[in-house]
Amino acid sequence: MTRIFDAKKGMSRRGLMRLAGGMAAAAIARPAFATPAWITGTPRFISYPFTLGVASGDPLPGGFVLWTRLAPDPFDREAVGGDPVPVGYEVAADPRFRNVVLKGAAVAHPENAHAVHVEVEGLSPGRPYWYRFFAGDEVSPVGRARTAPAAMSPVDRFRFAFASCQQYEVGYFKAYRDMIAQDVELIIHLGDYIYESSWNAPVRRVPVDDARGLDEYRRLHAAYKLDRDLQAAHAHTSWMFTWDDHEVANDYAAEHDEHYEPVDTFLKRRAAAYKAYYEHLPLRMSARPDGPDMRLYQRLWIGDLMEINMLDTRQYRSDHPCQTPEEGGFQRISVDCPDIDDPARTILGARQERWLRWMGDAGAKWTVMAQGMLFSQHDYQVGEGQMIGSEYWDGYRGSRRRVLDLIETRGLTNTVIIGGDVHATYVCDVKKDFNDPASPTLASEFVTTSITSPNGWHDANVASMVDNPHIKLYDGRHRGYTLCDVTKDSWRTDLRIVNDVRRPELEATTSKTFIIEAGRPGPQEA
Ligand SMILES: [Fe+2]
Repeated sequence: MTRIFDAKKGMSRRGLMRLAGGMAAAAIARPAFATPAWITGTPRFISYPFTLGVASGDPLPGGFVLWTRLAPDPFDREAVGGDPVPVGYEVAADPRFRNVVLKGAAVAHPENAHAVHVEVEGLSPGRPYWYRFFAGDEVSPVGRARTAPAAMSPVDRFRFAFASCQQYEVGYFKAYRDMIAQDVELIIHLGDYIYESSWNAPVRRVPVDDARGLDEYRRLHAAYKLDRDLQAAHAHTSWMFTWDDHEVANDYAAEHDEHYEPVDTFLKRRAAAYKAYYEHLPLRMSARPDGPDMRLYQRLWIGDLMEINMLDTRQYRSDHPCQTPEEGGFQRISVDCPDIDDPARTILGARQERWLRWMGDAGAKWTVMAQGMLFSQHDYQVGEGQMIGSEYWDGYRGSRRRVLDLIETRGLTNTVIIGGDVHATYVCDVKKDFNDPASPTLASEFVTTSITSPNGWHDANVASMVDNPHIKLYDGRHRGYTLCDVTKDSWRTDLRIVNDVRRPELEATTSKTFIIEAGRPGPQEA
């Protein structure tokens, strides 16, 4: 390996040559700050190392995770070299860093693509902080993070957004510009943060056609992170994450991809994808992958107002129902398939299902289940018979029954299920029995449309709505995200839609607004 940079010895000859080449860019990008004395070593980079921006995530009352990755050339691993690099950070109570409340140093390791994850603790709850990183003579852009309110402290209102499905090639991530304009306090990403393969690039290109190894997943994540709107949204506030299939492979189920390649081969791919995912997001140490395993599900609180259960519906799921080794992905299948109701099958896995039993236990007003999928039933077949999507909770009715029983027996009346994946908006009454319109509504569901990913099945799905009276809205025509304003009395959801994602300029509007009154499950159109 050619070493470009050595923290102790300075730079190799090739590194110095590259430094000269990168000087022009570096001169523009380098801010007028000296590296604080508490950063040891004086690494120098071929050009500005904070090209992928900064991010914060997983807010707790006393802190959050801060993230960056040193990437002077995001597509060339040699650009930083093979040595660990010291990275300093500062957290301040004001955007100009006059009142620095915390500073420290971390190490960017080459085996983690020189990513840095700092778990900040000891801060005040329920307020914004500003942070930045230092490496060598360079300083990162400033990000803003928010601590969560103190545990079960009174919170009167909270504004957050959720999003999914951002295929880079098909459009601009400009919906994030509107989230910033709406000044959301939290952004929840529900999956398809990247797409592992590229099959259609009408607007812009990614550097990898079909990722299978670690380097390829890293290059994809880097390409996505170069999007200015995405970077700005990460710098705007703290995020929370779960994933869907495309962070790894289309329509995968636990250890099987859709083509049922050998499990060993697929698990190697999954390990590479999970590692690259961890390296590029502000996730806690508890989520650090161990080979092909990564614990992503978790529970966080917004004071006494909201409990957020982040679920993983990919890593532990049983195989899709009634499928053959030749065909493993999403299918529309008849409900005659006996697998669907098999209580031994699960979409969450036994361990996560056991953990979920504590949902709502702390007594917050609203209980949120944040996950990647459509939860409610969607019968695609008009008239006699029922056809459902095998990938969704419809294909795992045993699991869904257990969740519904939990909501009902625990009296979690103010449960809101949020999802993504389908590139369309669904607004649903979550029914005790979806086949009986008179059965009680136990919860409310909002599935967000995609940031960019297309939908070609709007008309057919709208036609099927006659057989799905609990689905109050299906709309596959628009791209955008979902904005929520939560108080103790009501939950307001604005469906924010954007103009043509192939055009960079933004026009954003609310297509429809739904309200849930506390104590009365089921969204009502405003
Ligand atoms: Fe998607």
